[in-house]
Amino acid sequence: AETVRLKKTVVLVGMMGAGKSAVGRALASALHVPFRDSDAEIELAANMSIAEIFARDGEPFFRRKETQVIARLLDDAPAVLSTGGGAYMSAENRAMITERGVAVWLDADLPVLWQRVKHKDTRPLLRTPDPYATLSEIYERRVPIYAKADIIVKSGRKQSLEAMADRVI
Ligand code: S3P
Repeated sequence: AETVRLKKTVVLVGMMGAGKSAVGRALASALHVPFRDSDAEIELAANMSIAEIFARDGEPFFRRKETQVIARLLDDAPAVLSTGGGAYMSAENRAMITERGVAVWLDADLPVLWQRVKHKDTRPLLRTPDPYATLSEIYERRVPIYAKADIIVKSGRKQSLEAMADRVI
């Protein structure tokens, strides 16, 4: 990995629970570039959690902030950028990401995603009477769009973060 010189930002896309942040950190460290996280940047700028932003200002507001933050992060030097699960659904965001970065879809199966998100209460979109059904619907709807990514890497249950990072590289 030390001989790899990154010329564009690697943008990790994929569902909640796919491992974008965890793999992103390992990848950034292997590539010796900064790790950035669009959700974390939005929370920092708003001084609120994602759940609070959804509750107070609504999803459309969150999506506008998300586009602004991604545009700003893509202006910086090459890095690894992990995005929120819905970021790649916007055609505007996809165009920006494709133009100025490389989109990598971390593709995990629904059971793996569910294992990783079911105990957490941080995802406003899953605050429904049947979060599994909601996750499954979102997954089915989004898969064809994630598939537009430049690179697709399967995100398995048993792989170490380092192994995942190596495969992305
Ligand atoms: C969202 C995923 C979240 C966060 C927000 C919306 C989505 O990010 O951006 O709750 O639309 O899938 P993670 O993918 O990091 O959970």
